[in-house]
Amino acid sequence: MQAKIVLLPGDGIGPEVVAAARSVLNAVARQYGHTFETEEHPIGGAAIDACGNPLPEDTLGACLNADAVLLGAVGGPKWDDPTAKVRPEQGLLGLRKHLGLFANLRPVRPHPELLAASPLKPDRLQGVDLLVVRELTGGIYFGTPRERRTLNGQQSAVDTMHYTESEIERVARLAFETARQRRKKVTSVDKANVLETSRLWRQTVGRVAQDYPDVALETLLVDAAAMHLLTRPASFDVIVTANMFGDILTDEASVLTGSMGNLPSASLGETPNGHGLPRGVYEPIHGSAPDIAGQGIANPIGTILSLAMLLRHSLGLEQEATAVENAVERVLASGYRTADLAAPAQPACKTNEITQAIVQSVTGVPTF
Ligand code: IPM
Ligand code: MG
Repeated sequence: MQAKIVLLPGDGIGPEVVAAARSVLNAVARQYGHTFETEEHPIGGAAIDACGNPLPEDTLGACLNADAVLLGAVGGPKWDDPTAKVRPEQGLLGLRKHLGLFANLRPVRPHPELLAASPLKPDRLQGVDLLVVRELTGGIYFGTPRERRTLNGQQSAVDTMHYTESEIERVARLAFETARQRRKKVTSVDKANVLETSRLWRQTVGRVAQDYPDVALETLLVDAAAMHLLTRPASFDVIVTANMFGDILTDEASVLTGSMGNLPSASLGETPNGHGLPRGVYEPIHGSAPDIAGQGIANPIGTILSLAMLLRHSLGLEQEATAVENAVERVLASGYRTADLAAPAQPACKTNEITQAIVQSVTGVPTF
C-alpha cells in the first residue's frame, strides 16, 4: 500500500519519541512491502519559535492532505508565561478542531511484564483491559466566552462548559459500537449532581443506550469514577466521558500500566482519508516532559503503540498493527526498561536501545 503520513514531533521529548516511531514505521514498510511517504512539520512551541503560530497553515494543510498524522507532544516552560497571547497547546487543540476529531480513544491494558512497575497491587491489575473514549472537540476546552475580565476592580476569568445533544450523541454511539466489539459494557462518567452539561450528557447517553440493548450501561459521577479506577479497574470495559474528565482520568488510568509513557491514543473523526478510513491524529497521552528532553532516555512505547493504532484505524493494516504490538510485548518480556519503567536496582536502557530492539523484533531479526 501507499500512504501519506504527516509527522508532528512538537516539543520536549516529542522529537525523540516520534523519531523512534519513525524507525518502526520504516521497519514495517520494509517488512511488509508498503510505501509510506512521510513529511515532518512543526507544531506547538517549535512552531511558535519558527513562525509565531502554534499551528502554521502549512502544517494544517499537510495534515488535511494526509492519510494519518503522528504527533509527539506540545508545550514546555519556555512558552508557559500565563500572560502569553499564543500557547503551544492552541496548536494541538486547533488541529483537533480543524480535523473534526471528536473522539479520542485511549486504551489501557497493563503489560503482564510491567505489573510490578505500577504502584497498584498486582492482584488489582489482573484482567484490566479498558478503553476510554474521550470527547475531544467540545466541552470546557472549546466553550466561549473564555476570557479575563475586570470585576469590581479585580481580575476575574471565565471558561465555559458547553455541549450540544448531537456532540454527546455521536461520541456515545462510537462508545457503544466499540463496546459491541469488546465486553459489551459502557460506563458513562459525568458530574450530573452539579453540572447542567452533565445532566444533558447523562440523558443523551441513556437515550443512545436504548439502541444497544446488548450493551450494559453503567453511570458514574467523575469523583467516584476516579476512585473506582483504582479500586476496581478490571470492572471497566469502555468508559465514555467529556473532554476534561477524560483528560484527567486517562492520566490516572495510565498509572495502571506502570507509566504514562506507555499509553497511546487515537483521535478520530468522520472525514475519510484516501483509503476510505478515518483520518486520525495519533499521539501518546504523555506530555513533552521537558525535564528529560534531549537526553535520549524517554520511553517511546506510547508513541510506537500510537503508530500501531494508526496502522490499524487509518490504514486498515491489522496484521502490521498487531506485529508492532507483539514486538513491544516481546521486548518488554526480554527485560528492556526505560528509566520510567525500571525498578530501583534495575539498569535502564536508552530510547534508541529499546527502539532498535522493537525494530528488530518487527523485522524478525533475533537479537535476544
Ligand atoms: C492530552 C494533553 C492535552 C489535552 C494538552 C497538551 C492540551 O494533556 O492530550 O491529554 O489536555 O488534551
Ligand atoms: Mg492530558
